[in-house]
Amino acid sequence: MQQMMERTSRMVFDPDRVAAQFGILKRRVGGMPLHYLDSAATSQMPDCVIEAVAAHDRTCRANVKRGVHRLSEEADEAYENARAEAARYLGAADPGEVIFTGGATDGINLLANSLGQEMAQGDEILLSQLEHHSNLVPWQMLRQRRGVTLRFLPVTPNGRIDLSGLERLVTRNTKLVAISHGSNVTGALTDAGAVAALVHDRGARLMLDGAQTAAHGPLDMGALGADYYVFSGHKVYGPSGVGVLWGRKELLESMQPAFGGGEMIVDVTLEKSDYLPPPHRFEAGTPPITQAVGLAAALKWLSSQDLEGLRLHMKQLTDQLMEGLEHIGRRRKIRILGPLWGEPRLPLVSFSVEGIHPHDICQIMSDRHGVALRGGHHCAKPLHDLYGLDGTCRASLAAYTLRGDIDVLLSGMEDCIRILG
Ligand SMILES: Cc1ncc(COP(=O)(O)O)c(C=O)c1O
Repeated sequence: MQQMMERTSRMVFDPDRVAAQFGILKRRVGGMPLHYLDSAATSQMPDCVIEAVAAHDRTCRANVKRGVHRLSEEADEAYENARAEAARYLGAADPGEVIFTGGATDGINLLANSLGQEMAQGDEILLSQLEHHSNLVPWQMLRQRRGVTLRFLPVTPNGRIDLSGLERLVTRNTKLVAISHGSNVTGALTDAGAVAALVHDRGARLMLDGAQTAAHGPLDMGALGADYYVFSGHKVYGPSGVGVLWGRKELLESMQPAFGGGEMIVDVTLEKSDYLPPPHRFEAGTPPITQAVGLAAALKWLSSQDLEGLRLHMKQLTDQLMEGLEHIGRRRKIRILGPLWGEPRLPLVSFSVEGIHPHDICQIMSDRHGVALRGGHHCAKPLHDLYGLDGTCRASLAAYTLRGDIDVLLSGMEDCIRILG
């Protein structure tokens, strides 16, 4: 009974206890406490993840797959265990569906290079107008190489991908629909199930950019309905330089490699090469071994949290932030992008203040209040063009964000408006 009570109390989400696991948050910036509100760009790593990375390098740093010595075998085992952990987090049917990449951008480029080999003029790829440049530029490059056509789903006034024209825009020439699972600017979430059904009905494939959604708890690839999913380690409390491209096994098996090199072949002669089956066919050269081990530790850490409690905490802080900004906005016009009150959204809020450049706000926030905010177009320039904005400020939250961080942001905003007029 005592044990059960202890276990239950350990599981309940306690923001202060979670924040205490992130040593970096104890540091000061310019003599002030740090208030880190840029987690959608890169989230911090808990100390246990930093230690997992260091422990791997301290004890079994070696290359994978090539060696027959003990360290190499252990490194290989750690790397494949990391793949299995990522597969568990994604609810993937098989660890072989997990390809380690350099990050979400790298995963999308891999897909564009691989799928692109089968595409030609007349083929269509459907994106949306709110995509991160990472899910736009690789497809523009493919258009240049292969002459494919890019089409775009529009955006609703409150920052969602507008799916009302989906039936019309997915044609019999559409090969791929590649859209964000959650916007890094508006925070809007995409109803992937509704998209998947129609896309599959038309014989096309669906890729979801999960760079912003993967950080908010384990996923279920079977239920989601996507064919491909990408995310980055550094946004899910893990290291940078690593990410995942997940793909349905039967699709990966029919895909050509995107990059050539060591580690991905069965046999090489001067004339030709035969490739390994997935996932190794897609991992040319030495993979991000230590980073994958760190990513697995991060996913394990996140999965062990009280996820319902975490979701509630994120919602309460997002509400506090939006309410505070709206309150300030009664005196000085503030425009908040994205879904309205009560609608589901990611725990990030982008906003603009009339007459004040977002970079000036971020500078004052950093220099006078110790607040880390992001300002600019957040690698979604076409979306900002659509809104007629040069840029916005973005505050983005994570498991370690506390009410006090939002309080400092809001009082700092009053200060910015006073100083910048
Ligand atoms: C929605 C979205 N997609 C893709 C990316 C690219 O991620 P990375 O730079 O880690 O490859 C980001 C990063 O901010 C993002 O927010």
